[in-house]
Amino acid sequence: MDVFGATIFGEMSELAASTDSINLGQGFPDEEGPAELLAAAQAAIAAGRGNQYPPSRGVGELRRAIASHQRDFYGLDVDPDDGVLVTVGATEAIAAAVLGLTQPGDGMLTFEPYYDSYAACAVLAGAHRAVVTLRPQDGRWTFDPDELRAAVTSRTRLVLLNSPHNPTGKVFTAPELRLIAELAVEHDLTVVTDEVYEHLVFDGEHIPISTLPGMAGRTVTISSAGKTFSVTGWKVGWASGPAELIRRIAGVKQFLTYVGSGPFQYAVADGLATVGEHAARLTAQLRAKRDLLVTGLAASGFEVLSPQATYFATVDLGHGAEAWCRALPATAGVAGIPTRVFYDSHVDRYVRLAFCKRADVIEEAVRRLSGTVAPAARAGLGAPS
Ligand SMILES: Cc1ncc(COP(=O)(O)O)c(C=O)c1O
Repeated sequence: MDVFGATIFGEMSELAASTDSINLGQGFPDEEGPAELLAAAQAAIAAGRGNQYPPSRGVGELRRAIASHQRDFYGLDVDPDDGVLVTVGATEAIAAAVLGLTQPGDGMLTFEPYYDSYAACAVLAGAHRAVVTLRPQDGRWTFDPDELRAAVTSRTRLVLLNSPHNPTGKVFTAPELRLIAELAVEHDLTVVTDEVYEHLVFDGEHIPISTLPGMAGRTVTISSAGKTFSVTGWKVGWASGPAELIRRIAGVKQFLTYVGSGPFQYAVADGLATVGEHAARLTAQLRAKRDLLVTGLAASGFEVLSPQATYFATVDLGHGAEAWCRALPATAGVAGIPTRVFYDSHVDRYVRLAFCKRADVIEEAVRRLSGTVAPAARAGLGAPS
């Protein structure tokens, strides 16, 4: 697999643009984030806050806001000086963590389907990637505990977890997290957990693995303002955790970007102070949009896996998802992502559709898709395989 080749997101977005399709491929909102947050960024620029290189670990206001957030929401004790690192989006935090916490040849364990940067970061670090497959069971994605146990070997150093999970929309349950934590303690593993969708949860409860027994000292938690505040272009992310792990990640980060997003850091610090109210509003809106997409597609005969969190729903076509997605912009005027690209194993049945779009856009997408028939439903009629 060429992890540095053209991304499916770019390909599908180009197809969407050239066919004037509704793009449910890329996961970014088509509505602006909170007006106060946008105003705070403008005010910071006007006041000359952050226009020059900010401190390498991030501005104090934001580091303190992140530490307070971790304490207020999850009861975690994070040191704003030594235990927090502000990064250029969660993307940089993930890259710096994988590079800083593994040596070439070390094993890195993750769950497939996975966010695509995980595979690329493992390659950059020279780490050996092992995957445990998530599969739907009674409408919920889960994994086989024995597969997870078997995937941990003597070379495994790092577990890269993502909950809430992209692309499935799964929220890892307490028993699942307990098993991962037990294995981490038993095998002395470090866990890096990507929680960028922590505030976009509709069903179930997001439990940071860092809160489990034995985990605070071995877990780096990553999050970002992009999804929480609908400002994906600002690229303000962060990692928090034990001072020694954060020091190693910061050591890599200084040679990736050194610093970034100066004025936006101040705005995000302000936003985090009232994130609870904002997240409650956003979640209610997204839940309604999820239901619009999921029930609309189900009524048209699609098999849909409704997500517990994030802003992605999965359509199960049974087979031929990549070919279907490539044809879809031209035939139906809608673009989606075949999640095959997020697997190491060959799984070509799922399509990811983003619902962080205006309600009228989702309605129109459902209308267009209802004119198509899923491959599974038309077996024998020349469906792509
Ligand atoms: C699971 C996951 N992690 C990380 C990111 C990247 O976050 P950021 O935009 O803050 O770099 C995304 C963005 O889609 C994501 O889905």
